[in-house]
Amino acid sequence: MMVRVSATVENVSVIGTGYLGATHAACMAELGFNVVGVDIDPEKITSLSAGDLPFHEPGLPELIRKHVTGGKLRFTTNLDEVGAWADVHFIAVGTPQVRGGTGADMTYVDTATTDLARAITKDALIVGKSTVPVGTAARLADLIAETKHPEVNLSLAWNPEFLREGFAVEDTLTPDRLVIGTTNTHDEDTLRSVYAEALDRDTPWISTDYQTAELVKVAANAFLATKISFINAFAEVTETVGGDITTLADAIGHDTRIGRKFLNAGVGFGGGCLPKDIRALQTRVAELGLDHSMRFLDEVDQINLRRRKKTVALAFDTLDQDVIGKKIAVLGITFKPLSDDVRDSPGLDVAARLFNAGADVAIYDPQGNHNAAKRYPRITYNDTLNEAVTGAELVILTTEWDEFKTLTPEDLNHKVTTRRIIDARNVLNPHHWENAGWTFTQLGRQSPHD
Ligand SMILES: NC(=O)c1ccc[n+]([C@@H]2O[C@H](COP(=O)([O-])OP(=O)(O)OC[C@H]3O[C@@H](n4cnc5c(N)ncnc54)[C@H](O)[C@@H]3O)[C@@H](O)[C@H]2O)c1
Repeated sequence: MMVRVSATVENVSVIGTGYLGATHAACMAELGFNVVGVDIDPEKITSLSAGDLPFHEPGLPELIRKHVTGGKLRFTTNLDEVGAWADVHFIAVGTPQVRGGTGADMTYVDTATTDLARAITKDALIVGKSTVPVGTAARLADLIAETKHPEVNLSLAWNPEFLREGFAVEDTLTPDRLVIGTTNTHDEDTLRSVYAEALDRDTPWISTDYQTAELVKVAANAFLATKISFINAFAEVTETVGGDITTLADAIGHDTRIGRKFLNAGVGFGGGCLPKDIRALQTRVAELGLDHSMRFLDEVDQINLRRRKKTVALAFDTLDQDVIGKKIAVLGITFKPLSDDVRDSPGLDVAARLFNAGADVAIYDPQGNHNAAKRYPRITYNDTLNEAVTGAELVILTTEWDEFKTLTPEDLNHKVTTRRIIDARNVLNPHHWENAGWTFTQLGRQSPHD
């Protein structure tokens, strides 16, 4: 990779070293900058400083180790260190759903920004990367102006992040677009020098105001969530009238105006972004008196949540309405493959509902067991697929890890007690399973024998 550092920007800090921040910090080091990642969680900082990633993201541990060892990347809990040192500070702290509400909890962003502004003792640019309600950047700019040292020149840009967990390194090093909200050309030029390598590859550069930059991110997530719920709404119809949702998705997906991506019917979306972002967007527009504009997102959310209940109902149907004491193997409880993130995960929700109904739930996930066990410690977590399915009366596939997509009936025939499977991601071939004597169920697809 070509290393190109601008004459002006050499030192970069990243505040918040979770999924987004740790990735951004490592990738900035890969681009040639000196980088310090800051977090309030001392355990996270200790493990990152030792070159260990406290979560699963393919390719990221190698990148962190490379730059920690090479001296380009450090981690600290001390904001003052970076305040006197960095030219550009990226804010990458969390914006989770507020407890007991639907809006975004802005306390982390607000605290990180004011603490940072107080700590900065040399002229610098602060760049927000977290996903925030529209209007946040303007509010933070005022907060920074009130808090900063009078002799220091500080300004704020907004640069939303579009990385996908599982592909975070690739998406950060080779983004499909860069969106920059600024109030002056100097700040834009600073960010052009930070992202010079992507610009050399003609990556689309969208230079705009704060509001548009903030809205681009939530609009993208609202669109993706809507697309998934759109196909899942049709799955509800095919479940009633007959038909095959996968064939329907393939057929409409051939229309290039529609496209096939994000049209896989199943147990729906989850994770640390889509669900909370569509809720926060509705809440924000309601505050602005525009609740009607985003009302459809409530239905998008409801359709999505109904898919989880539907999967649980199918489990009850498959087990003749009696799940108590029955062993159910749940395969996949991360919200998507290639991640250990179980935030708002459909698979984990299904597992927890069945557990609460009295089933003997056995979870296996290649990466997510540890995080899920923190949330639901009483459920059984298995280290291997083999253990989870042995003696099961029902198997439910809830996350489409490759390991599960390639499963064959022969892999499970002699391990389970009863040959019943619900493929809640529509990734298995019904004929193979039915021919091997399995009761096979998918969402939105009539069984070939119905
Ligand atoms: N995870 C993704 O795929 C992704 C993609 C795009 C955008 N985003 C957005 O990025 C933001 C961060 O998401 P995430 O998934 O990385 O969250 P995360 O919970 O994994 O990480 C947030 C980190 O911020 C730290 N933190 C909180 N307050 C702090 C403070 N005052 N100073 C320093 N560190 C602090 C926390 O300890 C934590 O390590 C959110 O707004 C999210 O919506 C996430």
